[in-house]
Amino acid sequence: MALDRILIVDDTLIIRKTIEERLRGKRFSVSSAGSIAEAEKRLAANSFDLVFLDMGLPDGDGRTFIERLSHLESKPLVVMLTADTSVESVVECMRLGAFDYVGKPLSLPQIEMVLKRAAEFQKAVRVTHFLNRENVGRREIIGQSPAIVRLRELIHRVGRTNATVMISGENGTGKELVANEIFLNSQRANAPFIKVNCAAISETLIESEFFGHERGAFTGATDQRDGRFELADGGTILLDEVSEISLALQAKLLRVLQEKEFERVGGNRTIKVDVRVLATTNRDLLKAVHNGEFREDLYYRLNVFPIQVPPLRERTGDVEVLANHFLQRFAKEHGLKSSGFSPVGMASLLAHRWPGNVRELQNVVERAAILAEEGAPIGPEAMGLAPAAPPKEAPHAPEPPDVISVIPAGNEFLPLHELEKRAIFEALEKTNGNRTQAADLLQISIRTLRNKLTEYRAQSGESEAA
Ligand SMILES: Nc1ncnc2c1ncn2[C@@H]1O[C@H](COP(=O)(O)OP(=O)(O)OP(=O)(O)O)[C@@H](O)[C@H]1O
Ligand SMILES: [Mg+2]
Repeated sequence: MALDRILIVDDTLIIRKTIEERLRGKRFSVSSAGSIAEAEKRLAANSFDLVFLDMGLPDGDGRTFIERLSHLESKPLVVMLTADTSVESVVECMRLGAFDYVGKPLSLPQIEMVLKRAAEFQKAVRVTHFLNRENVGRREIIGQSPAIVRLRELIHRVGRTNATVMISGENGTGKELVANEIFLNSQRANAPFIKVNCAAISETLIESEFFGHERGAFTGATDQRDGRFELADGGTILLDEVSEISLALQAKLLRVLQEKEFERVGGNRTIKVDVRVLATTNRDLLKAVHNGEFREDLYYRLNVFPIQVPPLRERTGDVEVLANHFLQRFAKEHGLKSSGFSPVGMASLLAHRWPGNVRELQNVVERAAILAEEGAPIGPEAMGLAPAAPPKEAPHAPEPPDVISVIPAGNEFLPLHELEKRAIFEALEKTNGNRTQAADLLQISIRTLRNKLTEYRAQSGESEAA
């Protein structure tokens, strides 16, 4: 929503004409009304971005009409037209929700000023809207592995500059987190940070997302709209999953990166912007270049300062820190008490390969935090992971219980559910059928144990019946 459609409500024809004349040459669409009744008719037919509103109208008081306008879905900005510019009167209008006022007799420069302020205000509202929607809260980069220590240093160094940064890595490794951190470390940290997910926007819309469009540029373009590059002016833009854009758009993107200028879709005015570019990819871009899917010149424009985020399996040292961090966070978020991970639970986390990287770990821990019985440490089954023996040399880890000995000596592999079943029966045998003790030994909840036993009974019932 840009500042576009304007309604003038005043009973003096000459005032309406003066403002109309002033606005017409400036690509606004202008309507006017001489009374509240007429204004209602215009509002029923159209929505407006800004309303100039006279205080004394023949069929009512402008002040009471402000409130009516503030309830409209389009939330137009209201600019009062008033001869009474006393502090009391102006304050009252503001309190009622007016955005600004213009004193009578009208001064054209004052009208210009108000329009400029209104346009800036609307842009700020849109930018804040993006910021709030897309950057929920600050998240720290957790980890102490050499790779993460190095990553933090790179972020710190490149953050301060205006260099274009290309962040690559597998899914869920934390590329967006790195981009956020670069932004926060930059001199543009107080300016807009606009994100475009290139993979999520349809081919037909992405050009207008990037560069905006003029009214009537295509079917459905009922308004002029600023693109993300324009919104990011003075700040930073993140081109998330940049490898996904078409070759045609790559050419246009190259021009913005090189010349810092573009035109809106359906427009011919060249718009200049000052934007710092960050990009992410989970595809090997160089390979895409070799396959002719990504322009080489664009690749070099983007790859000014490359940052690789390593997969989690290459920094297993971080798994424990991350898991504990997420467990604490989710316990707090969901109002749960957590008793940490059992040694087998932690060993299983360390043994897993994490194809979905940190995001997968985060999801696994969140689910387990919710499922965990209060007071019971989280074991592998709550996380849906294969149990792994904790390392013997670990100073705090107790010896693994001998029930783990169910892996047959000959080492031929058994299906996991079969191993599980054997472990459960062995534990019951060891504890003379005491389910509470058996559950303890297995580091699962008594409920899980009961469910398993019911399941086995049902299975044997089935096979007997068969
Ligand atoms: N080192 C880390 N410390 C804390 N949280 C992390 C870390 N790395 C990733 N995360 C969290 O994991 C999730 C995935 O991270 P992010 O979205 O940044 O990954 P991505 O590489 O952009 O993923 P994709 O390729 O799927 O877009 C986020 O919730 C993020 O906060
Ligand atoms: Mg991402």
